[in-house]
Amino acid sequence: MIDQLKILTCGSVDDGKSTLIGHLLYDSKLLYIDQEKTLELDSKIKDGKKIDYALLLDGLDEEREQGITIDVSYRYFNTKKRNFIVLDCPGHEEYTRNMAVGASKADLAILLIDITKGVQIQTKRHFKICMMMGIKDYIVVVNKMDLVDYDKRIFDNIKKKIQNLFENYQYSSLNIIPISATIGDNITIKSNNMKWYNGTSLMQYLEDIQVNKKIGEKFIIPIQRVCRPNQFFRGFQGNVTSGSIEVGDIITCLPSEESAHVERLYNLDKEVTKVHYGEAVTLTLDKEIDISRGCVLTNDNNVYVTNSFNVTMLWMDEEKLKIDSAYYINLGTVSTLCYIRKVNYKIDIDTEEKIIDFEKVCKNEIINCDLEVLEKIAVSEFKHNKSLGSLILINRLTHVTSSCATVNKILENKNLFYQSISISSEERKKTLCQNPITVWFTGLSCSGKSTIANELDKILNLNGFHTMLLDGDNIRLGLNRDLSFSDDDRIENIRRIAEVAKLMNEAGLICITAFISPLEINRKMAKKIIGDKFFLIYLNTPLEECEKRDKKGLYKKARKNIIRDFTGINSVFEEPLNPDLILNNNDYQECAKKIFEKIKEKIKL
Ligand code: ADX
Repeated sequence: MIDQLKILTCGSVDDGKSTLIGHLLYDSKLLYIDQEKTLELDSKIKDGKKIDYALLLDGLDEEREQGITIDVSYRYFNTKKRNFIVLDCPGHEEYTRNMAVGASKADLAILLIDITKGVQIQTKRHFKICMMMGIKDYIVVVNKMDLVDYDKRIFDNIKKKIQNLFENYQYSSLNIIPISATIGDNITIKSNNMKWYNGTSLMQYLEDIQVNKKIGEKFIIPIQRVCRPNQFFRGFQGNVTSGSIEVGDIITCLPSEESAHVERLYNLDKEVTKVHYGEAVTLTLDKEIDISRGCVLTNDNNVYVTNSFNVTMLWMDEEKLKIDSAYYINLGTVSTLCYIRKVNYKIDIDTEEKIIDFEKVCKNEIINCDLEVLEKIAVSEFKHNKSLGSLILINRLTHVTSSCATVNKILENKNLFYQSISISSEERKKTLCQNPITVWFTGLSCSGKSTIANELDKILNLNGFHTMLLDGDNIRLGLNRDLSFSDDDRIENIRRIAEVAKLMNEAGLICITAFISPLEINRKMAKKIIGDKFFLIYLNTPLEECEKRDKKGLYKKARKNIIRDFTGINSVFEEPLNPDLILNNNDYQECAKKIFEKIKEKIKL
């Protein structure tokens, strides 16, 4: 089978990257006829007769207009020896983020250097990102040799600087090739202009190089999707990111740590007996265990279940890094919330120095920091497995990718171990003769949460149920008196309430909560903590109505800006996406009755 090589190309603006790749494709006669026509035509229009190879790569109109590459573009081409995928990444500093994404997927990196400019800070940054994302094989092409009259001394000088750059790093291979992308020297065939160069052309090197892909011994598959076409089939789907597995083998599901045997395996739509690294797989197990997207099936002891780990991180957001602020984290197939708890040091890109004294972390800086994820997830060190050892953080409000990072080590959970309790929550609920749930109200201030919650509490008690009511203002006067109304504090407020509600449910009690919980992530988080006992009620009383009911005068103060961050006025309320019940009736007793009717069967044992 012809193998495939994923090549990342990076360089600074105007280093000639697009021209280089365009030339590779053109010289190899790999262009489609129409593409070739377009290219020649476009070029003629642009600068009279000469072909501008860069036009081949700069596919997007906007890129052409700005004269810079703005996204990762994928180019596929084959030679007799190999299939190639070129991940063309942006040179401009603005787009370092895309470059990091490309680096996480590539087998080999081509770093482009303009001989007239030398090794620039952006080259160093790209090099560091490639190293961070685990690329082990490098080709540094020194471009524009024609502009220095193919001078060997100038090349040797730069070559030394490049070797110095690599000195303190671990890598498998490094080749430094002098080229001219516009003329075509040493691209597909060896150039006569540089007789002193005794290496191969770039294309030949790309065809022959053997890169060491880390296949891994043990099996790891992060689950992307549960496939249930009918009631008889429940398959788990994902890409194998390490090792192989056969029918009959035992695997463990993380984070639950339940085990089962592999019953059936499918590679695409074919049933097989064994699956391998890199394949897209569906598998079934001999036992019903709870598996959903984000779980990992593995037999690898080096995959850990944890919620805290130390990472090396490239900060890519215009907004500065915020300690103890919640970000979305994507790791493997998990998507949840996490906090940056501690920045240990910054790494100076130029000198490699560790900087401990600093005030803030800004765009394009590399740091070492500790993360804490809201829940326990399956993680491995990056050096062990790329997919479970690399992650991105996403800004909750702007949805910008704030950073990418690789896991250095798992931080153990402060030596805490779950202590099992003899009386189970099953037994507790039998004692109370009820099925505990959490009825979670969400809605604006004065939407009726506390009043309806209170009424529901009374009805439940009259009907012999055991309950506890947690109300926003009351909890904020006690347990959560240290919290403000900033987004981050509201997240912490809801996290604590959800944990308390869960404990109430474990004690067998029906818990009713009345908190604004304004953000979708507040509700999502509560649901994650409380699980299927979570029952969400949205009171969508219009803002004008809430303002009319404002006995405490809070809306008035907010309108005058005396209170900041007031929900509905100067702080957002996001409508819940899928509440279990929506109520907009003014009669609070009616509402409470309606809820009782709806949950009655659920809470009876
Ligand atoms: S939440 O957003 O974190 O869920 P929570 O329900 O605990 O809010 O508290 C809301 C109550 O605090 C309101 O009913 C109101 O009485 C009071 N409050 C005081 N300041 C604010 C504010 N800035 N925004 C919203 N509620 C406020």
